[in-house]
Amino acid sequence: MKTAFIGLGIMGSRMAANLLKSGAGLTVFNRSPGPAQELERLGARAAASCTDAVRDADVVFTMLSTPDVVRDVALSESGFVSAMKAGAIWVDCSTVDPSFSRWAGQTARDRGVRFVDAPVSGTKPNAERGDLVFLVGGDAGDVREIEPLLNVMGGKIIHAGETGRGAGLKMLVNALLAQAMVVFSETVLLGEKLGFDRNFLLDTLPNTHVVAPFTKAKAEMIRKDEYEVNFPLEWMLKDLRLVERTASEAGQPLYLARLARELYAGADESGLGREDFAAIYRYLRD
Ligand SMILES: NC(=O)c1ccc[n+]([C@@H]2O[C@H](COP(=O)([O-])OP(=O)(O)OC[C@H]3O[C@@H](n4cnc5c(N)ncnc54)[C@H](OP(=O)(O)O)[C@@H]3O)[C@@H](O)[C@H]2O)c1
Repeated sequence: MKTAFIGLGIMGSRMAANLLKSGAGLTVFNRSPGPAQELERLGARAAASCTDAVRDADVVFTMLSTPDVVRDVALSESGFVSAMKAGAIWVDCSTVDPSFSRWAGQTARDRGVRFVDAPVSGTKPNAERGDLVFLVGGDAGDVREIEPLLNVMGGKIIHAGETGRGAGLKMLVNALLAQAMVVFSETVLLGEKLGFDRNFLLDTLPNTHVVAPFTKAKAEMIRKDEYEVNFPLEWMLKDLRLVERTASEAGQPLYLARLARELYAGADESGLGREDFAAIYRYLRD
């Protein structure tokens, strides 16, 4: 299958590199040219525009920052969907809200293109190792067709149902992730105020049954007070806003997620947006 990959940031560049290693014919495009040139050196074709990238592709992947960016790049007048082959599949891996995904899917179908929402759970090292978890929504036949490609970028595929279900599941995963990071940070800070050594807390708490497993890796960032970006804090804030929008559409109040969003917004305003979201610890501490 001929594939195209648009959006070569922290995640997309690594996912595309794995597609390439698997032997898939790959054309890439990114707004800023550096990451596409890097993949060109590894054997991809770097396209001059996103419409040029998709013209011959059977499957087009996107890994872009926000729903607005996905809409502009894919579905605006100059967007790439209109340049895709009839019947080709667009797989959107970006984290967007389910309403947006359903709209994008319908708009793509109206233009003769199939659509699968396939956001991912996992971060930079998982993208690099090819063991992401794909949270997938869409037609079962379409999902089967793209499964071999997802398998080279991920270790697990969860088909959650119709279009928008992958995005919906991703909202739940990131609601948990964002709040767990605040809870862990706040608890470590309390422990320090109670006189416990910070390293003792960072060694002990992640090995109890009560914390989320991902905090082990984040504890090392807190230990060094260095938050080299895996998942940018600004995108966690974006995701909490999408979670709130989704919850409001569903009529489900989210009290703690709203508080978490306010904290991440403060951290973003204080200049931590391009640090890893574990930097919420530094924000709460300072
Ligand atoms: N990092 C993670 O751990 C992680 C995990 C799961 C899901 N996600 C989700 O995956 C998506 C990408 O995240 P990332 O961490 O890879 O972010 P990133 O490194 O900031 O990459 C964002 C990508 O979007 C492109 N982009 C941004 N604004 C654009 C615009 N106006 N027009 C065209 N392209 C634009 C960027 O192009 P430039 O390079 O030109 O800026 C880049 O390719 C986000 O939805 C994020 O929430 C991230």
